Amino acid sequence: MPTQIVSFLIEPFQREPGTYLDCTLGGGGHVAAMMAAMDKTPFSREHRVIAVDQDIEAINRAQKRFQSEVSAGRLILQHSRFSEISVSSAFPPVLGVLADLGFSSDQIDSAQRGMSFRLEGPLDMRLDQSRGESAYQLLMRLSEREIADILFELGEERLSRKIARKIIEARESSQFTDSTRALADLVSRAFPPAQRFGRLHPATRTFQALRIAVNDELGELDQLLNHVLPLVMKPGGLAAILSFHSLEDRRVKRIFQKKDDGWTPLVKKPVEAEESEVESNPRARSAKLRVAEWRGMVTG
Ligand SMILES: C[S@@+](CC[C@H](N)C(=O)[O-])C[C@H]1O[C@@H](n2cnc3c(N)ncnc32)[C@H](O)[C@@H]1O
Repeated sequence: MPTQIVSFLIEPFQREPGTYLDCTLGGGGHVAAMMAAMDKTPFSREHRVIAVDQDIEAINRAQKRFQSEVSAGRLILQHSRFSEISVSSAFPPVLGVLADLGFSSDQIDSAQRGMSFRLEGPLDMRLDQSRGESAYQLLMRLSEREIADILFELGEERLSRKIARKIIEARESSQFTDSTRALADLVSRAFPPAQRFGRLHPATRTFQALRIAVNDELGELDQLLNHVLPLVMKPGGLAAILSFHSLEDRRVKRIFQKKDDGWTPLVKKPVEAEESEVESNPRARSAKLRVAEWRGMVTG
């Protein structure tokens, strides 16, 4: 979707020089596409990009990849969470914002991050490995009821109670280990044999739920939508949010469509990836892009 996103977001940069905020730097694909598009506008060299990620590895990789843009002051890299984006008066008003939510391919493909049930590794799942509780620590601390609620609410897992029971039984017999494969096997055993080998791995929803919980992903999105964007956006600026499951999309839709909240939606229905993109990147199948214009804080 980079092309669709950039074509939406570049419009205000044709009118005036401005700052673009990428809240989810990741591998830097969108930042690169945005800078290339900015170069073709009338104010090419005056535009600036601020790119944020809570993963220090993403920041370090971008430091190398975009060395000359960083040295020229065109690109500013910030290691922080959405909720910590500094919104002091020194923050330049922003004409374009992107949040491409969730995890990057670098993260899911790294066994040592523990996000994939296909790769053996520690049950970590933190997007920022420098702080916070890992998925293993979370599962060792929570009660059976709390685990079941997380799996049900954040993973829409119908077998949440059965899986939670199995986790507690494994904990009580000291069999619960800090291993992605061990958890995936345990979850599979909670399913009737006929459902263990379908298109979707039985552990898919459990892993999604745990990753969202470990990183407080919905709380972070709420902070971004309700507190950060209204403070940094310039009236007339555009925001594009790309989400990957209904819990996120529902939040974005609610904010972007509430007329008295300062936003005007630019698309009625979310934009979805084209079949050719889904073929090369299956994760794009669930992507939903919403774009809105910030009109300004509504008072009185
Ligand atoms: C889907 S990837 C972004 C990919 C990127 N657009 C690209 O072109 O390569 C999402 C990135 O956002 C980061 N992220 C997710 N939630 C975050 C949050 N609350 N605060 C800061 N970074 C976050 C993740 O660490 C990950 O690197």
